Amino acid sequence: MGEELRQILERHDGRFVSGEEISRALGKTRAAVWKQVQGLRKRGYSIEGTRGEGYRLVGKPDLVEPGELSSRLPPETIFRAFEHFPVTDSTNSRATGLAEKGAPEGTVVTADEQTSGRGRMGRRWVSPPGLNLYVSLLLRPPIEPVRAPQMTMLTAVALAEGVEDACNVPVRLKWPNDLYLDDRKCAGILAEMSADPDRVRHVVIGVGLNVNGTENDFPEELRERATSLRILAGRTFRRIDVLAAFLARFERAYATFLSEGSLRSFLPAWERRSLLTGRRVLLRIRDEEVRGTAAGVDETGTLRFLRDGSREEESVCSGEILEFER
Ligand code: BTN
Repeated sequence: MGEELRQILERHDGRFVSGEEISRALGKTRAAVWKQVQGLRKRGYSIEGTRGEGYRLVGKPDLVEPGELSSRLPPETIFRAFEHFPVTDSTNSRATGLAEKGAPEGTVVTADEQTSGRGRMGRRWVSPPGLNLYVSLLLRPPIEPVRAPQMTMLTAVALAEGVEDACNVPVRLKWPNDLYLDDRKCAGILAEMSADPDRVRHVVIGVGLNVNGTENDFPEELRERATSLRILAGRTFRRIDVLAAFLARFERAYATFLSEGSLRSFLPAWERRSLLTGRRVLLRIRDEEVRGTAAGVDETGTLRFLRDGSREEESVCSGEILEFER
């Protein structure tokens, strides 16, 4: 309700638009328009109204609303179905549930708060209300299951580019799929897949991005290691601006990935932002902890790693960076 009115006000970019013009455009009476204005105000939109001039939008709330999100994406977008939850357990769980019920590729699930946000390696993802982005994308890529993990890397590149577009801050990438601002983590990606032996049924890509939290919003044990866009930039951001920029970047990256069949085109964008390349790291591979130097990533998303004492690089498909040289 009120989406068309919101769009009219938005198009006028802070200028007045008369009640008469709105009522004509919406095909509604002036009283019905006024009701919709009240509805938008209740949702946090700040709308000035004067008898002579009409209405104008002077402030927008930091809401991730499907109507606004969809109006910000290009008409040919793959992102057409949106589910937003004020509170949910985990957007990845919700997206998986929707996938199992046949929801289409391009379904976007968002939440204002998660009560059981999940991270990699069975960790929890701290998900307080109203501050951050918690979003899951449902995709049905026509690829073999072994290639699905590569999608985290293209997501990381698209997220870094989207954040840079919307917030003008430099983002760094840490293999396999973390985003850093300076030397602290600001976002993580959790991809979960359902597949038959020869084909992917669906992939859910979950993104948690710390946007407007301050240090006090992080639990004490994370304060040294985690950060947010607000902490780095010294200002807040509308979450929907960051999300729209990410989805626009993701969509292009996904199309390239499917048409080229590899991550090759993403390597320069990755390496430019890479936090680890050329640095000494402590890596856990299965149950083993090994020290060495990260040498970069290849077009399958694998880490090239030179173990201390070895002359030959090895390829690490999955592992965890326990420590890295700063
Ligand atoms: C990581 O461990 O770095 C990955 C974190 C992924 C968190 C996001 S928040 C949205 C989506 N829903 C979840 O439960 N997890 C992912």
